[in-house]
Amino acid sequence: MSNDPLLQPYQLKHLTLRNRIMMTSHEPAYPEDGMPKDRYRAYHVERAKGGVAMTMTAGSAAVSKDSPPVFNNLLVWKDEVVPWMKDLTDAVHEQGAAVMIQLTHLGRRTRWDKANWLPVVSPSHKREAAHRAFPKKMEDWDIERIIKDYADAAERMKAGGMDGIELQAYGHLMDQFWSPLTNELDGPYGGSIDNRLRFTFDVLTEIRKRVGPDFIVGVRYTGDEDLEGGLTKEDGLSISKRLKDSGMVDFLNVIRGHIDTDAGLTDVIPIQGMANSPHLDFAGEIRAATDFPTFHAAKIPDVATARHAIASGKVDMVGMTRAHITDPHIVRKIIEKREDEIRPCVGANYCLDRIYQGGSAYCIHNAATGRELSMPQIIEAAETRKKVVIVGSGPAGMEAARVAGERGHEVVVYEVAPNPGGQIRLTAQNERRREMISIIEWRMAECTRLGVTFHFNTWAEADTITAENPDVVIIATGGMPDTEVLSKGNDLVVSTWDIISGDVKPGANVLVYDDAGDHAGLQAAELIAQSGAKVEIMTPDRSFAPEVMAMNLVPYMRSMQKLDTTFTVTYRLEAVEKQGNQLVAYVGSDYGGVAKQRIVDQIVVNHGTIPLDDIYFDLKPGSLNHGEMSHDDLLAGKPQSVVRNPDGTYQLFRIGDAVSARNTHAAIYDALRLLKDV
Ligand SMILES: Cc1cc2nc3c(=O)[nH]c(=O)nc-3n(C[C@H](O)[C@H](O)[C@H](O)COP(=O)(O)O)c2cc1C
Ligand code: SF4
Repeated sequence: MSNDPLLQPYQLKHLTLRNRIMMTSHEPAYPEDGMPKDRYRAYHVERAKGGVAMTMTAGSAAVSKDSPPVFNNLLVWKDEVVPWMKDLTDAVHEQGAAVMIQLTHLGRRTRWDKANWLPVVSPSHKREAAHRAFPKKMEDWDIERIIKDYADAAERMKAGGMDGIELQAYGHLMDQFWSPLTNELDGPYGGSIDNRLRFTFDVLTEIRKRVGPDFIVGVRYTGDEDLEGGLTKEDGLSISKRLKDSGMVDFLNVIRGHIDTDAGLTDVIPIQGMANSPHLDFAGEIRAATDFPTFHAAKIPDVATARHAIASGKVDMVGMTRAHITDPHIVRKIIEKREDEIRPCVGANYCLDRIYQGGSAYCIHNAATGRELSMPQIIEAAETRKKVVIVGSGPAGMEAARVAGERGHEVVVYEVAPNPGGQIRLTAQNERRREMISIIEWRMAECTRLGVTFHFNTWAEADTITAENPDVVIIATGGMPDTEVLSKGNDLVVSTWDIISGDVKPGANVLVYDDAGDHAGLQAAELIAQSGAKVEIMTPDRSFAPEVMAMNLVPYMRSMQKLDTTFTVTYRLEAVEKQGNQLVAYVGSDYGGVAKQRIVDQIVVNHGTIPLDDIYFDLKPGSLNHGEMSHDDLLAGKPQSVVRNPDGTYQLFRIGDAVSARNTHAAIYDALRLLKDV
């Protein structure tokens, strides 16, 4: 047996966990009608197959009708959830993993204009900044009702065959009772710490009455709100001991921080550029003080840090949650001594930001996650070996090369630059977003393992490609910045790429006009502001950088609010004129506002890219399919069958930004779903 600390079993009551790695609860927003149906089950089963010891399902599964989900969570207040839960539990157990669920009442952390339009409740009228609802201050009958709801839900989960449950107590109703900032009730549920904890212990007592002493029940809670006037570390230690001493709790799952704002949430779940394992020592302090089963997750993305977390005795089970969203097969790769093949989580938080923006969680660079029913996490070899020639080695080209390599094809990649990466190489220029380069480096390592041939510093013409006698040609040449947005003066502006790449020096007084709303605009603006310049970011949208999304915006704001940056929304740059060595920006508005002018010395435009598609059109006449991609075949998961030119000698496809400006995930998904059937 291995002596790797991570691979040692862990005994939690009667439950033997096969190793020390778990996925902490996270709602990927995959429920259908509030139920964990086929897609949901497939997602967890894939991770169980990959060797994880335990998966904590849901994330904020709603115990009450007045806790409507904010991002498509499970509705465990419905009896119909039991058979679905049973199917999921059985399927995960079959793969040797344990499976639990996180239950919650969101309290004020939701909205009244969802589901049944019931008032939002909390132990005070105080509003949570992130979800904006002004809550009803709870009455005795609200408290009684919700205690019963928790117990009913726990009973349903036991009936569903689950190994246990965890109660959420950070930013939700349970700790809204705990925190002096959010509890304005008088006794018996407000006032002293004993009173503020009464709701939790009443819930636990009622749950124990229903599920008995053996069923596993844990609490995931903040041990330090890290907020003026909130729960302190001392409070947290005291609460930890009380939870243990109650005899009703089987494990502690430690969180540090508060989640009532985007910025607070980002400190609890740190994104790329932020320190790794920031709260691990704190979790270790709680374990040392309580000598009780302790779980913890917060940006422990790599095996070495996870191993340290266990070997140092700071925690009993280490959460590698986003790491498993990126690579479901981490444990299997550790066991097979293939750690260097683990697809790295780059902390992009595309997964999390998407659920808050109302969509499913998708990983920025694993397009099979959340699509386990249609996209393979492990790619099977093709029956016939083909020659696949790829032009471009950005995310689309690299994913195409990797997938074609896994299929067993002969793969050749042409790239005009000296290195792979395309736009990701530009992104990674920002020190905070350096981790993004792993998207490319991991693929480069995989392609090397798979024997893919690369020709860097090589400008491929149509002849170069046809001379290879390819069976399939993939054009993944990406795009170039499109700055042609003005009625006059397009030649006077520069692009975000000019600034980020260092080709153009920042001016002293700069207008960044951003109507794409993605990272490039903010990245260029931050770089300019950091050089000491005065920067105004202007957008015709009603909020700036909408494509960047909530948690990703936080580091930019933390940086730029300290610099001389102005944010202007709902104004559109219309024209630019030169005036001496200055530029005059003529600004209008879609809302009919008064026209304005700005006098600056540099204007940077962020308006996406236009495809670099010359080679595609040059190759089109000689192709079998004239470049046509059958959407029917693509969506049905079938090989491409279009023949428009029987004399053609190769199939031709283009993917990623070479088709139209989108994002990294879209580029990688284009490549995976096409190439998996080549
Ligand atoms: C898509 C997604 C949804 C999440 N939802 C929840 C949730 O509902 N409840 C919860 O306690 N944590 C939730 N989390 C937080 C994770 O459990 C975990 O604490 C966090 O991702 C940090 O751990 P990691 O760095 O290993 O990913 C979520 C995380 C992700 C990525
Ligand atoms: S989107 Fe980013 S943070 Fe989320 S799992 Fe993928 S790599 Fe990790």
